[in-house]
Amino acid sequence: MKTSIEKALNNQINAEIYSAYLYKSMEMYLQSIDLPGMANWMNVQTQEELAHAEGLIQFVNTRGGRVVLTTIDAPKKEWASAAEVFADAYEHEANVVTVKINKLVDLAIKEKDHAFNQFLQWYVAEQVEEEDNTSTLMKKLNRIGDHTPGLMQLDGQLAARVYKPPVIPGTSVGAP
Ligand code: FEO
Repeated sequence: MKTSIEKALNNQINAEIYSAYLYKSMEMYLQSIDLPGMANWMNVQTQEELAHAEGLIQFVNTRGGRVVLTTIDAPKKEWASAAEVFADAYEHEANVVTVKINKLVDLAIKEKDHAFNQFLQWYVAEQVEEEDNTSTLMKKLNRIGDHTPGLMQLDGQLAARVYKPPVIPGTSVGAP
């Protein structure tokens, strides 16, 4: 594995763990404003992010690279409302994570590393889902506004989200 790719993958591992940390912080905020269903949604999201990191870690190891864990930045800890939390989550997925994944694909193409490019395609598809999920919830919360019964109903729905490990090809993540 080329050094440039190993370095970029290490950065992405840090970014995925940061995402987990950010969603955990959102979970703590949602708990503090008594929205346990939304907090549960973020708890599941945190676990998904750690699975994304694990997939990348296994890919680096399989290709003979070295994973070096580095400092994780402190996440934001206060928001004005649940709507603001999910708007931030969407913004993070669309304007941070997807941009980073696309840059990794650009690098795979530049370095002509086809195996890396193929591996990344799962992450490319996953980002479409991540953006869609967060955008849908952001829009629902914007429509609900300060309407408490609407907020309670959505909170009840999000309490049902259960973590199911994603199946990341080429790794043991989600494998039966
Ligand atoms: Fe790892 Fe939410 O993307």
